[in-house]
Amino acid sequence: MKNFDIYIEDRPFNKTHTINLYDGKNINIFLNKGTSFGSEHDTTILAIDALKYLYEKFGFFSPCLDLGSGSGILSIFMDKLGFKEIFAAENDPHSRKESELNFNANSINKTPIFIDNPFDLKNNYNLVVCNISGNFIPNNMNNLCDILKPNGYLIISGFNIEKKERYIGLSKEKKLLFIKEFSSKPWISLIFKKF
Ligand SMILES: C[S@@+](CC[C@H](N)C(=O)[O-])C[C@H]1O[C@@H](n2cnc3c(N)ncnc32)[C@H](O)[C@@H]1O
Repeated sequence: MKNFDIYIEDRPFNKTHTINLYDGKNINIFLNKGTSFGSEHDTTILAIDALKYLYEKFGFFSPCLDLGSGSGILSIFMDKLGFKEIFAAENDPHSRKESELNFNANSINKTPIFIDNPFDLKNNYNLVVCNISGNFIPNNMNNLCDILKPNGYLIISGFNIEKKERYIGLSKEKKLLFIKEFSSKPWISLIFKKF
């Protein structure tokens, strides 16, 4: 579970980020200035695109897990979409603190609950979103699949397009069906469904 990659995104100013939904509505997310990852990077935007897609198709999900919350942007977005029972995991104390500040700043209905072990099998989710680069995702495809409820969805982001086939190959060894991709060169996000 250890990950030695460093995740920093310099956000020098407080800023409200607007996400446009397909129905013309907008969702505003206020992020305090800080250095935790998660605002305008393509890997974040591609995770948001995947969440938007699932929301448009199926409505809200509950319970959900934001694995590697960084600034907290994905948890806040899910909350503002109406998703319920949102859990967040973040192993960097500084980023976790910034997530909490941003949760408070957005006065979201129910502050996402932080969990220390995202792969604790006592908890199962209908949706897991994970934007973590490096070996974390390929090393944990099994764990990511195990914490999903049957028919639950997994969104992964944080890697290059050239890794797509490898990750789809890994998913075939688990109970995961590839559903959809979003890309913005060189990055890609993938959605899987557990069967
Ligand atoms: C690329 S950032 C993603 C932040 C945000 N979710 C987004 O999509 O922009 C990855 C985050 O995952 C955290 N992280 C890395 N390994 C982790 C692990 N094993 N458990 C929990 N969080 C982890 C990092 O500290 C970092 O904040």
